[in-house]
Amino acid sequence: SVWKITKRVGLGFIAASVLYYGLSVYRFRHPDEKQPLPDPTKKTLVILGAGWGATSILRTIDSSLYNVVVVSPRNYFLFTSLLPSTATGSVHSRSIVQPIRYLLRHKSHFVKFYEAECTDVDKDGKTVEIRRQTSDGQELVEKINYDYLVCSVGAETQTFGIPGIEEHGCFLKEMWDSQKIRTRIMKCLEQAQFKDLDPETRRRYVHFVVVGGGPTGMEFAGEMADFIKDDLKSWFPELANDFSVTLIEALPSVLPMFSSKLREYTKSLFARTNINIRTNTALKEVTADSIIVEVKDPEGNKVEESIPFGLLVWAGGNRPRPLINKIIHSLEEQTNRRGLIVDDYMQVKGMQDVFALGDCTSTAYAPTAQVASQQGAFLGQLFNKLGSLDFEKPRVDRYIAVGEELDSAALISLANEKHASTKVFRPFKYSHQGSLAYIGHEKAIADLNVPFLDKQIHASGYLAFFFWRSAYLSELYSLRNRTNVMLDWIRTSLFGRDISSI
Ligand code: FAD
Ligand code: NAI
Repeated sequence: SVWKITKRVGLGFIAASVLYYGLSVYRFRHPDEKQPLPDPTKKTLVILGAGWGATSILRTIDSSLYNVVVVSPRNYFLFTSLLPSTATGSVHSRSIVQPIRYLLRHKSHFVKFYEAECTDVDKDGKTVEIRRQTSDGQELVEKINYDYLVCSVGAETQTFGIPGIEEHGCFLKEMWDSQKIRTRIMKCLEQAQFKDLDPETRRRYVHFVVVGGGPTGMEFAGEMADFIKDDLKSWFPELANDFSVTLIEALPSVLPMFSSKLREYTKSLFARTNINIRTNTALKEVTADSIIVEVKDPEGNKVEESIPFGLLVWAGGNRPRPLINKIIHSLEEQTNRRGLIVDDYMQVKGMQDVFALGDCTSTAYAPTAQVASQQGAFLGQLFNKLGSLDFEKPRVDRYIAVGEELDSAALISLANEKHASTKVFRPFKYSHQGSLAYIGHEKAIADLNVPFLDKQIHASGYLAFFFWRSAYLSELYSLRNRTNVMLDWIRTSLFGRDISSI
């Protein structure tokens, strides 16, 4: 009967899922054995960074073709998309990070990792300078040789030199920022319910101000409102009427990358959930307990105003890291102060055999994980092709005189010239899948590109929230991450977020 067939199919599905899960866990714990020593006959590829761009290269690259060395001051990959959720505790911090060694130990050939910061690149000597802190606090400086170098160091938080922002504000870029925000929230709550406080000071402590109406600021404001609604109001009933969230944006509108329909939807949801959006309001200065903003009225007049806060989260965008600034200032070809200029093959202008991708570059694309991952996959394939050109002697002899050393640019153009019809190397082409953001109250917004229909779908509300969760769950790095995040979501909906001040 239909019931019996359904039961069998269901049982079969459960058995297959358990088997898949078991095999994945087994593979996670038992990587293949590898040759530990670098091979002197192969070129050395140094990758700076362990973020979206770098890990995407590492996933794609055939590690048998190079001696691959990864250098990053952080020994884990961070799934930034769920960082705002960790700041309020809906998701645990460790659920969205994955040790970089997890990826490296599953490569077919040995890949070396150094926890260090690259501080300089010598393009003539083909070396990078790396600095590391030893466990007893010493700083050591060393050099690493490279044949090919990839800069995938991301960006840091832009401050525009606003006074007081670094001392009194919190950023939301790295895991330590999220942990700082969480500690600060708890501190504000405990302080706000102290005895003998005047109402104004109490309200200030539980006024959570977010500056920057890009997706980082909006997602955090949404998460903060959820935290207040779901947990804080019941844990701190005496403060229930004092909690407030304000989002400040210098431009006339928030979320410029989303369609106007979704921007309006977000604004009306924020209004309903008591998040006060203040556009045309630019942050000018930060003190320990208040911010000074410049408000533009409809006639264009500017007025200064002081806004007290307990927590200030600054999400004002990106700026290049010191290493990237150093490279830009050392090269005539690098004329854009926002990031490294690269060609269609992600080669850095003015440097030989150096590539760059992601947030540290200045391209036509937005600095997103989506762009960095696609560029990473592209570069992984490019290196596989370059490596095969060098590797397969008979093929390479057809192009290059024996003993001649060609840089990557020359190899690419030579290979394309010899195979004009097939074009071995094609320029990078970005395919935009759409934009997705969580805005609180179990609602999300999604502008999705549907290539075969050649149109964009705008989705909002609970359905988009479900899509947002499914998309991020599937994009998470490993089965371990997926399991943890899923369990975190269940934990949060059953028991609420933790309010311990740790
Ligand atoms: P990163 O991922 O930042 O990686 C940089 C790496 O370089 C890190 O490992 C870092 O430790 C390392 N590094 C830094 N300095 C050095 C150095 N001197 N030497 C060596 N290594 C170094 N984008 C989306 O598309 N979707 C989203 O939902 C989304 N959500 C986001 C949420 C938040 C809160 C934030 C802050 C960003 C979000 N983004 C999102 C943007 C996305 O995170 C970035 O575009 C992406 O991380 C860029 O990848 P990357 O590899 O260039 O840099
Ligand atoms: P952003 O650059 O997108 O937004 C920063 C905002 O701060 C801007 O709207 C700017 O006008 C505002 N601002 C700057 N100075 C100000 C001041 N003095 N006073 C008031 N407002 C000021 O930065 P964000 O949100 O950190 O995002 C960085 C990148 O990461 C973007 O490319 C974004 O698309 C991506 N991202 C994507 C997400 C998603 O797809 N869900 C989530 C988070 C980030």
